[in-house]
Amino acid sequence: MDLIIVRNTERMARIGADLIQRQLATKPDSVLGLATGATPLNLYREMVARHRRGRLTLERAITFNLDEYLGLGPEHPASYASYMRRHLFGPMGLDPARAHLPNGTAAAPEAEAKCYEARLQAVGGIDLQLLGIGLNGHIGFNEPGSALDSRARVVCLSATTRAANQRYFPLDESTPTHAITLGIGTIMEARRLLLLASGSAKAAAVSDALEGPITPEVPASVVQRHPRVTVLIDAEAATALS
Ligand code: F6R
Repeated sequence: MDLIIVRNTERMARIGADLIQRQLATKPDSVLGLATGATPLNLYREMVARHRRGRLTLERAITFNLDEYLGLGPEHPASYASYMRRHLFGPMGLDPARAHLPNGTAAAPEAEAKCYEARLQAVGGIDLQLLGIGLNGHIGFNEPGSALDSRARVVCLSATTRAANQRYFPLDESTPTHAITLGIGTIMEARRLLLLASGSAKAAAVSDALEGPITPEVPASVVQRHPRVTVLIDAEAATALS
């Protein structure tokens, strides 16, 4: 495991973007596994800035997002489809046909999850998977207790996760109770992982994930088993590491 501790999130964004840029230089048609949430925002901003300077393109890349809320269509402002369009796909000019997210309003969500996994396998799986980490150690929406070999499926979101994400919803709307997520097994098949974390609120989850036992109770602990993982965190998220 490569553990990189940086001063601030700007530095994190630059190092993360370097890694993605190198990945795309080696394999322009890479399959990128993408995350949403607060953590990758600076990284996406940096990617967009490099795109504007002509240094980074997703023209030939294919993207698969980790997850989507059940019940939210792509036009809902808090949907992950909308987040990705706003922060990355739109500004990078990514052809929508190359960008994949689970359909949160599918009539048969379990079938949609299986189909999403099959679509990912059909393009050969993920070359580089970007991950954030939840306060409870989740990756994607694989909450504590998820099987370490789980595949894409419908999951019930924990109270911690719903509370953490409530700020993205209007006051009269609560965070959905369920989501479709890629599984831990699916994530672990990615050829490379890039895990990002910033801020002191993530310190305990980071130390449990990197230094604790590998257990379904801390889904992110599974990254310890991955042969090619870069963990890129800021000093605040590193404070509980020994
Ligand atoms: C988002 C995702 C989640 C987040 C995690 C951290 O697509 O899969 O695992 O990465 O909840 O969220 P933030 O970055 O908002 O703290």
